[in-house]
Amino acid sequence: MGKYDELFTRIKETAREVDMKILELIPEKEPGELYAAARHYPLAGGKRVRPFVVLRAAEAVGGDAEKALYPAAAVEFIHNYSLVHDDIMDMDEKRRGRPTVHKIWGVNMAILAGDLLFSKAFEAVARAEVGPGKKARILEVLVRTSNELCEGQAMDIEFETRSEVTVEEYLRMISGKTGALFDGSATIGGIVGTEREDYVQALSKWGRNVGIAFQIWDDVLDLVADEEKLGKPVGSDIRKGKKTLIVSHFFQRASEEDKAELMKVFGKYAGDAKDDALIHEDIREEVERAIELLRKYGSIDYAAEYARNLVKEANEALKVLPESEARRDLELLGEFLVERDY
Ligand code: IPE
Ligand code: IPE
Ligand code: MG
Ligand code: MG
Ligand code: MG
Repeated sequence: MGKYDELFTRIKETAREVDMKILELIPEKEPGELYAAARHYPLAGGKRVRPFVVLRAAEAVGGDAEKALYPAAAVEFIHNYSLVHDDIMDMDEKRRGRPTVHKIWGVNMAILAGDLLFSKAFEAVARAEVGPGKKARILEVLVRTSNELCEGQAMDIEFETRSEVTVEEYLRMISGKTGALFDGSATIGGIVGTEREDYVQALSKWGRNVGIAFQIWDDVLDLVADEEKLGKPVGSDIRKGKKTLIVSHFFQRASEEDKAELMKVFGKYAGDAKDDALIHEDIREEVERAIELLRKYGSIDYAAEYARNLVKEANEALKVLPESEARRDLELLGEFLVERDY
């Protein structure tokens, strides 16, 4: 049996329960296009790791996972809304193995579907089976999280057209766009499950570091993954000129000649889309060349190692919590997230 088999089984079981809450909130109804567009990513699946974090965090502090189901649905709503809008901004055509929402329904309907998913997150919190005090705190965390997510996404977009971004700036950007929601997921689970602030703090720290590591690993996968398995385009970040840790490492070390070579393809479509036709251009060969260059300087390995160290730090923070199967699942999940190939 593989190291993660039991973990995967439990993620699948919790996903089934959370999905019932999600689909209850976005039924098939009129306007048909809006609801079909909003259901598209939730129905396509995804790893469902954030709701799993909410449920297991609640249990890891001695709470009841059942009470965390609607909050878990809420974070998956926030995540899915951000994906719909992110795919418009990144001009990507594939997500979870299917055409992106804006590819099928157009940009206008995709913006609205994203908005609806965002608003459904708060409807889900309203349904949570917790007292008013806890509900207010969950709401506060979710609001803070989505504020930060927007700030991070805005930095990501702004960086596309900047020539230099420091490692510190990159880390602040991904802490916002991705770290915040993992932090929020773990924190919300903690709030549901306990009154102990030190436990909630430990979960928050774990989530933040795991989330940052998750994004660094996502940036690695954008280069090296198998597109079929990943379910989304490979090389998208190169095409858009995304300032990742990998690219920063490269630019600090590469020869002028190699830098110039990477620049031929890097950021070819940075900034706003001027022409929709551009999106369809196949740059596979150029991406292959870019990967070769990044590998030459060990930039991909550097980022991967960076992510693994963050997970070690994250799991250290969890030691404040009593030992349990739920805590072990969170630790294992952290490890898996920086080993995964999808
Ligand atoms: C993708 O998140 C967006 C990032 C923050 C990198 P996931 O990799 O969790 O996407 P799904 O939910 O499994 O599709
Ligand atoms: C996006 O990061 C994170 C959010 C959606 C907030 P990416 O743009 O790298 O995510 P993917 O790779 O498209 O999933
Ligand atoms: Mg993207
Ligand atoms: Mg993006
Ligand atoms: Mg990515």
